[in-house]
Amino acid sequence: MGHTNDDKPYYECAQQGISLFKNDAISFPKKLPNQSVDLIVTDPAYSGMNQRLKIGSGKILGRYTDAGKDKGKWFAEFRDTEDNYRIFLQECFRVLKNDRHIYIMFDSYSLVTLAPVVRGIFEVKNILCWDKVNIGLGHYFRIRHEFILFSSKGKRALNSKAIPDIWKIKRVVKPLYPTQKPTEVFEMMLIASAKKDFVVCDPFLDSGSSAIAALKFHCLFMGCDISEKSMSYSKERIVYFLESGINKFQPLSLVGDDEALLKLFITANSR
Ligand SMILES: C[S@@+](CC[C@H](N)C(=O)[O-])C[C@H]1O[C@@H](n2cnc3c(N)ncnc32)[C@H](O)[C@@H]1O
Repeated sequence: MGHTNDDKPYYECAQQGISLFKNDAISFPKKLPNQSVDLIVTDPAYSGMNQRLKIGSGKILGRYTDAGKDKGKWFAEFRDTEDNYRIFLQECFRVLKNDRHIYIMFDSYSLVTLAPVVRGIFEVKNILCWDKVNIGLGHYFRIRHEFILFSSKGKRALNSKAIPDIWKIKRVVKPLYPTQKPTEVFEMMLIASAKKDFVVCDPFLDSGSSAIAALKFHCLFMGCDISEKSMSYSKERIVYFLESGINKFQPLSLVGDDEALLKLFITANSR
């Protein structure tokens, strides 16, 4: 059974160096020592999408399948005012070691409002594009991408100089958890920035895709999410992966037909 106390891990596997905490993205890093993390990879649940934004009306479209306490929404959202976001990023900066990388995912709306806040704290190096191959919903143009802001704390080269800035990776079809991302999106971040035994951290864990990516790359992992469902889903997925090597909720590779990307995955998996 998982624990619910913030201080104790909900799930821990000391042998593999994995711990999951049911906690929020600001309180969780506050409990970590300075410079204790080698790589942050994360996909926050921005509230801006559900608010009337300066550049338009950014409601989440589609069927709300998981309306509960937070009625009308699939999952809890992170209050992404510039001030709150700055507090979150300052904690990320404090826990990240020097000369290390951070990857933060954004939809177009949140990128416009929050990228300057990231820039005030980290050195923004690239805006990467996750090309989902097929179109999704959209108010005007149909959305086929998400952005990933790649930044550093200090100086650090990528592991390879052959990585493109557009990542063609298909969506997870009918995921059990509505915002589940393909593990390959996180694997790309690790191909570019991780070394064996790096401590990887994701403060918006959700379905645990980043944790599975970290395990594949022989990294240690720490993650949190405020949702109980996320905790049990991630725990189940990690335990299954440790026992069988199978990526339970995403059994097939979702890498699109991109030669450069396929090459990177083949090289990474043959290590
Ligand atoms: C967009 S999803 C992340 C998807 C994840 N990358 C995956 O592939 O499964 C965002 C997650 O943030 C969680 N969340 C929302 N507000 C949070 C907060 N304040 N602290 C931590 N997690 C939060 C939600 O419960 C949701 O699971």
